[in-house]
Amino acid sequence: MAEPKHPQKPDTKIITGGRRKALTGAAVNPPVWRASTHLYDDVAALDEGDKTNEDGRFFYGRRGAPTQWSLSEALTELEPGAHGTMLYPSGVAAIAGALLSVLQPGDVLLMSDNAYDPSRSFAQGFLKRWGVETRFFDPLIGAGISQLFCERTRAILMESPGSLTFEVSDIPAICAAAKAHKGKREIVTLLDNTWATPYFFTALDKGVDMTILAATKYVVGHSDVMAGSVTTTKRHWQALRSTAQTLGQVLSPDDAYLAARGLRTMAVRLKAHEAAALDIAHWLAERPEVATVLHPALPSCPGHEIWKRDFTGSSGLFSFVLKGDRDKAAKFVDTLELFGIGYSWGGFESLAVPKRPEKYRSAVPWHCDGTVIRLQIGLEDVGDLKADLERGFQNVGSRT
Ligand SMILES: Cc1ncc(COP(=O)(O)O)c(C=O)c1O
Repeated sequence: MAEPKHPQKPDTKIITGGRRKALTGAAVNPPVWRASTHLYDDVAALDEGDKTNEDGRFFYGRRGAPTQWSLSEALTELEPGAHGTMLYPSGVAAIAGALLSVLQPGDVLLMSDNAYDPSRSFAQGFLKRWGVETRFFDPLIGAGISQLFCERTRAILMESPGSLTFEVSDIPAICAAAKAHKGKREIVTLLDNTWATPYFFTALDKGVDMTILAATKYVVGHSDVMAGSVTTTKRHWQALRSTAQTLGQVLSPDDAYLAARGLRTMAVRLKAHEAAALDIAHWLAERPEVATVLHPALPSCPGHEIWKRDFTGSSGLFSFVLKGDRDKAAKFVDTLELFGIGYSWGGFESLAVPKRPEKYRSAVPWHCDGTVIRLQIGLEDVGDLKADLERGFQNVGSRT
């Protein structure tokens, strides 16, 4: 595609992004450029190649080739205010790569208490050994975060909504507080935006400095590829890029190809996930066996008002609290035929897992009257999914 001559809506950008003819050739999709060695015409060209370190120029496989550049550009185009996107071999690698590009020994990292467990482990293990102290904060803290700032505060990692308990944070207020802080070094804000994707929440225009996706989920969309991305502004681009290169991070061309292929249908998939998940969430909220439903679009979810203000939609992942203990929840989940039992989410198939969020909290204790079951609502018929859940309820018996 040539540069767009006219403004494009997000649904269109998802289709056109990264499809410049220089990257795709005559094909609709960029071909898979599988190469470690790139050959130069002569030594003068080799020497010339050493002078710049930018995407879009052949150099060596670790700096990618048109397949990866095309996916990066497509993701960059979805975030107003973005300068570039680095790709990683998983979402966890993207989170680690973004944090390492910002932090140095002696710094304090603030992390939302509902962050994905491996993000917490990275901070409590690797970053601690590396001399970075992590302090966890209440995801509902909003502008109050400024009271946690100290001379050493360097970064804030948010996840909104949290992918287990679904609290929605006031991202604009947290980012505004970070920007208003007048310390020796600026405070950089990072968001794990995997649940909403830029389709339902553009992050940089809300004040976030680096927005992270586990592309493994909705971008790929087919439960068959691991991938991650970090999209950022010009200000943070060089640090992000050089850290990724120093660490040797590269997404394989085959995986980049599949991720780009997934991306093209992300808008339609997300709308279908949204509609089915909302239908099932409302249905569950009426059930006497259910203590509460944790879905950002339902008033029962902490931060629901913020979701209404800031997001343009909701995806297919949410939790509900089944009254009763974990054995009952296990029996419920074991009964389900259409819901697989497995980690991850964002694919076309439904999943259900009992969870213990209280294990991953340190700033604010987490309690509920029952057992959390997290559902990923896939693209199956919603009536079939409800019938499956109904069988689960019947199997665990008592309606209270
Ligand atoms: C919210 C969130 N962020 C990041 C990740 C990590 O992504 P990956 O599994 O690709 O490393 C996950 C994976 O489940 C996740 O749920």
